[in-house]
Amino acid sequence: MRELSLNVMDVAQNSVRAEATLVRITVKESEKDDSLTIEIADNGCGMTEEQVQQVIDPFFTTRTTRKVGLGVPLFKLSAEQTGGSFDIQSEKNVGTTTTASYVPSHMDMTPLGDINSTIKILIQCNPDIDFVFTHSTDVDSFTLDTRELREILGDVSLDTPDVLEWIAAFLEENTQNIYGGA
Ligand SMILES: Nc1ncnc2c1ncn2[C@@H]1O[C@H](COP(=O)(O)OP(=O)(O)OP(=O)(O)O)[C@@H](O)[C@H]1O
Ligand SMILES: [Mg+2]
Repeated sequence: MRELSLNVMDVAQNSVRAEATLVRITVKESEKDDSLTIEIADNGCGMTEEQVQQVIDPFFTTRTTRKVGLGVPLFKLSAEQTGGSFDIQSEKNVGTTTTASYVPSHMDMTPLGDINSTIKILIQCNPDIDFVFTHSTDVDSFTLDTRELREILGDVSLDTPDVLEWIAAFLEENTQNIYGGA
């Protein structure tokens, strides 16, 4: 994929389909350490050990009943092709945590892309799910927690245009700050 933010969209959609009520998306960048780590953690239906193996390698078995998905394998490839690593921790009925680590200086690094739009679209399309998005750099970090927004908003839904506009502005402003200010 052209942007890692699209991989994040795909993998977060897996969490939505797994009926998660809370999805944590964490992006940790360090120029100093030449590293970028993306973690997506959900409290959805989870997977068995065998399911995890099949998801990581869609050609693990020739006799599959489910269709072969590519969301997870492509995310894994994007990390490993930079010399980074990939991991899925999952427990049935507890949840799933997917972690991709990158070496940004590698020539096969995919740019992060527009992660803020991914977050905004995820909230817009799933206003009843809570998202906690944390983005950090060597400079600073920030978190958007829809549970906190919900407390302030009361009965107002997160997919209201005014709320989405506020979210977009919050993300943009804080992103500028962690990239060293405008
Ligand atoms: N977070 C998760 N919680 C529970 N099951 C998951 C999770 N992520 C993936 N899975 C399981 O692994 C399968 C494969 O996921 P993957 O994203 O690779 O393909 P897909 O979603 O089926 O298809 P697509 O290519 O459209 O993404 C899913 O269909 C689902 O059964
Ligand atoms: Mg998928």
